[in-house]
Amino acid sequence: MADQIPKAPGAKAAAPSAPRSGEARPGSGKVEKGRSIIAVASGKGGVGKTWFSVTLCHALARIGQKTLLFDADLGLANVDIQLGLMPERDLAGVLQGRLSLGQAKVRYEDGKFDIIAGRSGSGSMAQLPAARLMTIGQDLVRMSASYDTVVMDLGAGLDRTVRMLTARAGTTLVVTNAEPTSITDAYAFIKVTHQNDPDADIRVVVNSVDTKGEGHRTYETLRKACQNFLQFEPQLAGVIRRDRKVLESIRQQVPILTRTPTADAAVDVEQIADHILDHRPPSR
Ligand SMILES: Nc1ncnc2c1ncn2[C@@H]1O[C@H](COP(=O)(O)OP(=O)(O)OP(=O)(O)O)[C@@H](O)[C@H]1O
Ligand SMILES: [Mg+2]
Repeated sequence: MADQIPKAPGAKAAAPSAPRSGEARPGSGKVEKGRSIIAVASGKGGVGKTWFSVTLCHALARIGQKTLLFDADLGLANVDIQLGLMPERDLAGVLQGRLSLGQAKVRYEDGKFDIIAGRSGSGSMAQLPAARLMTIGQDLVRMSASYDTVVMDLGAGLDRTVRMLTARAGTTLVVTNAEPTSITDAYAFIKVTHQNDPDADIRVVVNSVDTKGEGHRTYETLRKACQNFLQFEPQLAGVIRRDRKVLESIRQQVPILTRTPTADAAVDVEQIADHILDHRPPSR
């Protein structure tokens, strides 16, 4: 199934609404980007973005990178839950005007990286005014200058928040698994992001596959759809195998690279961290 080109991949891409008047055109290429910001996105939900973002951050920190994890899933923030944290400060303080973005960060000493946590279950954060998102984006870009890498865990899909924050990233990693619906939704995400900014550095992460070969075939399906319909080919950042240690570590609320660093999925994310360091986008 994964070898089939998704049917009618253009159909899904109509989903995002047009910018309202007064809203900055997301991803128009006009907003300032942070070269070191990596957006972790997906079309379909539940494909492993949050787990991957946490693990990627941890992998980068373990090789000496100064790293920040920004929980930008404003509706269903759960980085803190996966890590078993109860942060004293989080993004809610920023949105209420009590804290600057810099003041909202907390240190995750066990992983040796910084975190800006979201507020779990706070649906009120999901639909922020565009001006607020612009300010957060600007502040994040400014803050990213003092980090080697900022990993931004986004909500699924293509809503305005996702589009505006993706526009700030130097690199966007689109996570998919081998399911046709996930591939089709990843295609839709890539289509909109590429059309908003033809220079965007978009790469693919295939997660939860039984074998690396299955991951490569999934990537090929997506790459061919992009080539045929968009005349654009996103690169493959890497393939992550399905691994029961992932669920076990989430249940224990301990990062996989702490609990079982030799697990297949942990090793696969370390390879993606190496890929990222080897393929930084050029400064513009
Ligand atoms: N490589 C993997 N092997 C096994 N299970 C995995 C793997 N990656 C993710 N999972 C499972 O997928 C579940 C969903 O992961 P996660 O919450 O990170 O997804 P998400 O894309 O962030 O979801 P959402 O779109 O709701 O934010 C996890 O609970 C985990 O059990
Ligand atoms: Mg998530």
